[in-house]
Amino acid sequence: MKFAVFLLLLSLAFAGCSAGRRWGMRGGGGRWPCRGFFCRFWGLSRRLPAPWRPSLPVCSGKGTLGERFALNLGINDADNDTFVSGPEIYNDFKNNYDTNNDGCVTEAEWTQRWERGLRFSKAYAVNRFAALASDNVTCPITYESFENSTDMQMPVGIFLSANLQTLVETCQSDNSRLISNCDCLQLLGACVNDAKLSEDSVCKAYVVQPVIATD
Ligand SMILES: *[C@@H]1O[C@H](CO)[C@@H](O)[C@H](O)[C@H]1NC(C)=O
Ligand SMILES: *[C@@H]1O[C@H](CO)[C@@H](O)[C@H](O)[C@H]1NC(C)=O
Ligand SMILES: *[C@@H]1O[C@H](CO)[C@@H](O)[C@H](O)[C@H]1NC(C)=O
Repeated sequence: MKFAVFLLLLSLAFAGCSAGRRWGMRGGGGRWPCRGFFCRFWGLSRRLPAPWRPSLPVCSGKGTLGERFALNLGINDADNDTFVSGPEIYNDFKNNYDTNNDGCVTEAEWTQRWERGLRFSKAYAVNRFAALASDNVTCPITYESFENSTDMQMPVGIFLSANLQTLVETCQSDNSRLISNCDCLQLLGACVNDAKLSEDSVCKAYVVQPVIATD
């Protein structure tokens, strides 16, 4: 464990020292399409022999954004009929969010689920919660009414778009998240490459006008 931490620190230090040389070799950053710490780090890490190649810390262990969305969608369309129904929402809230079982989902319960269970970022979790929560601070989200509302049938495409829209806004509101936030870092790639997400209208609009990093 200590050795792994040592390796990580060493490789980070190495990346920091070498960044300058790399820029010098390139004769300035003008033509380099990818800028900032992330790109310098990645540019260097590809050149390191395998045991020295560090994984990107901000996304380590999180898989792809498409996988995280698929996990959440799979739970909310548990019977795989392409509709998110009232009972499916109820079961998700009851089984995965409402840890103290009081019928209310609080911001703490929501972010816990999104960060630990679904591996989304804190900023995205907080914003998605805010988009759904009521003004009632002691009980911002109630879900009991969904238990038997089989009439409620939301197409999975609507569910996906609504969730993607909040993520796009999360990334747009602070473009440093393009580097510091795994969901924002992976958004453009997922919108281009993920079979499901690339079909979504919110993703299509994002590909046309993605968030741009400033150095
Ligand atoms: C869910 O449905 C899709 C087609 O809509 C299919 O490709 C997939 O295999 C199904 N998954 C499960 C777990 O049934
Ligand atoms: C907030 O929600 C709880 C639980 O549903 C309810 O008992 C309480 O009266 C609500 N408070 C307000 C101010 O609406
Ligand atoms: C849903 O139906 C079950 C079984 O009939 C019942 O026990 C439960 O109270 C109902 N839930 C709501 C919110 O009406």
